[in-house]
Amino acid sequence: LRLLYKNAGSQTENGPDYALINLHETLNNVFLKAIRSSYEGFEDFDETVVTASKNFADYQCNAPMKMSKLLKAKGQNIPLFTVANKIVECLDHCDIIDRVEVSKPGFINIYLSQFKLRDILDFVLENKLKPNPLLHPKKIIIDFSSPNVAKEMHVGHLRSTIIGDSLCRVFEFIGHDVMRLNHIGDWGTQFGMLIALLQDKFPDYKNVSPPINDLQEFYKQSKVLFDNDPEFKKRAYNCVVKLQSMSPDHIKAWKLICDVSRQEFQKIYERLNINIIERGESFYQSRMESIVKYLEKEGFLEDDNGRKIMWSPEASIPLTIVKSDGGFTYDTSDFAALKQRIEEEKADAIIYITDSGQSTHFETLKKCAIHAKILNPSNVDMHFVGFGVVLGEDKKKFKTRSGETVRLAGLLDEGIKRARDKLIEKGRDKVLTDEELKLAETAVAYGCIKYADLCHNRSHEYVFSFDKMLEDKGNTAVYLLYALTRIRSIINNLGSHCKDLNAAISVFHENEWKLTKTLLRFGEVLFKVINDFCLHYLCEYLYDVATTFSEFYDNCYCIEKNPKTGEIVKVHDGRILLCKVTEEYLNTGLNLLGIHTVSKM
Ligand code: ARG
Repeated sequence: LRLLYKNAGSQTENGPDYALINLHETLNNVFLKAIRSSYEGFEDFDETVVTASKNFADYQCNAPMKMSKLLKAKGQNIPLFTVANKIVECLDHCDIIDRVEVSKPGFINIYLSQFKLRDILDFVLENKLKPNPLLHPKKIIIDFSSPNVAKEMHVGHLRSTIIGDSLCRVFEFIGHDVMRLNHIGDWGTQFGMLIALLQDKFPDYKNVSPPINDLQEFYKQSKVLFDNDPEFKKRAYNCVVKLQSMSPDHIKAWKLICDVSRQEFQKIYERLNINIIERGESFYQSRMESIVKYLEKEGFLEDDNGRKIMWSPEASIPLTIVKSDGGFTYDTSDFAALKQRIEEEKADAIIYITDSGQSTHFETLKKCAIHAKILNPSNVDMHFVGFGVVLGEDKKKFKTRSGETVRLAGLLDEGIKRARDKLIEKGRDKVLTDEELKLAETAVAYGCIKYADLCHNRSHEYVFSFDKMLEDKGNTAVYLLYALTRIRSIINNLGSHCKDLNAAISVFHENEWKLTKTLLRFGEVLFKVINDFCLHYLCEYLYDVATTFSEFYDNCYCIEKNPKTGEIVKVHDGRILLCKVTEEYLNTGLNLLGIHTVSKM
């Protein structure tokens, strides 16, 4: 099924999809086809045969080496050079290739067509970087963010939120039908404690909103009572039972508690511009009851000291489906959620984004779901996308100085303050209007927090450092945002000269050509992103584009001015158009990372 997203870009009614054109894959396919028809025995050859070239060519094919070895093993002694030439003879016409050259002892150098690539960029400039609609969009459910009610949303949830949102954006961009789900922890024993406390302290909670703004405090209090007061504990359990059987009063109290948390979560989502549908564990209560019945009936459940557990022959640990007190667990709700997403939502793929610590949970869930015939892995893709922990600058788990978890709202506030200080330090407050400064500081603050997360390989831990992420050199959001505003101001400063740009994009100068090829790696990069669920490829690409642009701009005049009057005397139309199309790629890429861009900063 992975292949289906991989080829997504080419499955269109309207011919080739220039927005997502994958040059590398196109070349690889052409060469594979040639290889398969070159010599007997290679009909099923299936490897990556084309790689980016490290010498003067654009790409190269090193397959002759391997092929000649395989031929030798079959008693056919054919020189490398001959094999290479044979492949070239078998090549179909391909319009992105200008020419191929065989060099000794047997390398095939591939040169891209400057005219064709220029046409592609011209097309993108004209039509924007918008993929064609997919013939067969997939329903993709992405389960991300998912904080817990009555507990603080912490940096782990922040990572899940940032990575999840960006992955959603990429799949949406390609044209899939994405469902963004917030599987919040809003069900379970802790709600019994919370409701019992609410009943004690605010018996009038049904009419007046109780002061539980500090839910964490409230949670701590109830926990103390639960652990020390057997009477309270009994009542708490009773409350869980009542809640799970949907007693109106208990539901009312539960809703109040969830609302308080929800408002906090929502503030964070609004600040970070995150769209997500809340569908917490509670949503699955009746489905949990039926899945337990099903598993029981089919004989999948085993008794383990009063607990009901489920093993799969493949898994190293079991799932706990029913606790000894009869309650359901995290495993139960995930099992029911998986079934609901497959059967009711008709998902083609389900992607879970949490810290890597939960990988065993999801692996076990997958194996058990396959075992119970709920998940058929040839129809539905279930992926776990894990990420490493966030560290503080002391390389220890990210905590406040007093050792508490860092509050997200406070963290975002600090980002804003630091971004503002940085802009003022550069004297930008003297150039920008108040409104522009405000836009710039939020773009920088949230942009740098998101980018710092996304630009690291997600499976590694990363160090959260405002100083690092706010640097304006190197692979940072600030650098990219500056690169973009620079291009925008080049274009804006043209004023009336911009109207009648009448040329094709310039691609023939060495630096223009390098930028062209860099831009057109976009499709290849995006497919790598969805294949590995890794956004750092996109970050690296954008950083490459920005640095290559800057080389181009340093070496190629775009606008010539009279040195005395500052008046524009010559505009290099084709280069301005190259600036414009670069802007299109950078802006689109930053949007896919969930980073808001500005025109001035
Ligand atoms: N609420 C969980 C946590 O904070 C994350 C939920 C992830 N999604 C899921 N379907 N289990 O760790």
